Amino acid sequence: MSNPYAQPMLRDNALAGKTIIVTGGGTGLGRSMTTYFLQLGANVVISSRKLAVLEQTAAELREQTGGRVLAVACDVRKYDEVEAMLARTIAEFGRVDVLLNNAAGNFISPTERLSHKAFDVIVDIVLRGSYNCTLALGKHWIAAKQPGTILSIVTTYASVGSAYVVPSAAAKAGVLAMTRSLAVEWAKYGIRSNAIAPGPFPTEGAWSRLFPEPLASKLDPAANVPLKRVGEHQELANLAAYLVSDFSAYVNGEVVTIDGGEWLNGAGEFNKLEILTPEMWDQIEKTMRR
Ligand code: HXC
Ligand code: NAP
Repeated sequence: MSNPYAQPMLRDNALAGKTIIVTGGGTGLGRSMTTYFLQLGANVVISSRKLAVLEQTAAELREQTGGRVLAVACDVRKYDEVEAMLARTIAEFGRVDVLLNNAAGNFISPTERLSHKAFDVIVDIVLRGSYNCTLALGKHWIAAKQPGTILSIVTTYASVGSAYVVPSAAAKAGVLAMTRSLAVEWAKYGIRSNAIAPGPFPTEGAWSRLFPEPLASKLDPAANVPLKRVGEHQELANLAAYLVSDFSAYVNGEVVTIDGGEWLNGAGEFNKLEILTPEMWDQIEKTMRR
């Protein structure tokens, strides 16, 4: 039977005529979202620091989807490189409609072990990178009197925080605050801002930095998810395609969580009672009613 979670959702050509910039689009979730955007008829610019990776991805996706995809090297921490990426996009496709802030850096560590440079590198990629792209695109859209859509990939811990990934949590929280702030401030220009907060979706980039050995063999990322599975890339791509499409034209300032209920599982006072068996519940009820 085909995987029920890997089915595309939107109708054919749902993104035809749109040009989308995906930062970090050469690997992982960025690549999966790019693939679906191309299948739906969008033109996509994928960018990151490693041009060779981007060019290989672009060639494979052209072959797979027949879509138009341009690979552009751009370190999102550098504003001049972001402006150059925007100029390349306009030169190639004539316009840009969507910015997907997806590039990120992360690793687990006790915070007191981090050098200040290690803290900087994560915050710079995630927060500075997202505001550099957002500012450049926003200025462009406002000057051109053209509407635009910004979608940022955050995390569930952007709202609640998380131990051992503190620079990432602080930076993602900043991206979420920017998303909600600009949803109000730039609405008058026809610019929407939304975010997605994914739970665990296996990628080489995330798994190698968040679940390295000997942790990987001790910690199952699906175990804390009430649905008892990790996410399928197509499920995220479906949500992202909806949020960058005109079908979501009235959705603005929202962060959509897609995590199988994981973060709430950590939050509820009595959620750990999941471990009780029916026999234990019988015993407990008997004791209480006595
Ligand atoms: C402690 C570390 C470290 C580690 C690097 N550093 N790795 N410190 N523990 N594991 C320190 C270095 O010693 C250095 O500080 C500083 O960080 C910069 O390191 P560089 O290697 O020079 O940086 P750079 O080459 O730019 O690489 C950036 C990176 C790398 C973030 C460290 O991992 C990277 O390129 N990541 C991009 C992709 C990625 O991280 N994807 C995962 C996203 S997952 P000093 O002081 O020594 O100079 C995600 C999902 C979250 O966000 C939610 C999941 C459920
Ligand atoms: P990934 O494959 O490692 O993606 C991160 C991308 O960011 C890479 O393509 C990387 O490419 C790029 N990047 C890093 N630094 C950059 C910089 N300075 N400038 C431009 N690009 C840069 O990991 P992923 O799991 O797909 O993560 C994608 C997004 O999902 C991230 O925002 C992450 O926080 C989020 N997320 C993932 C999960 C998960 O379970 N996988 C869960 C929650 C949220 P280069 O190295 O070539 O620059």
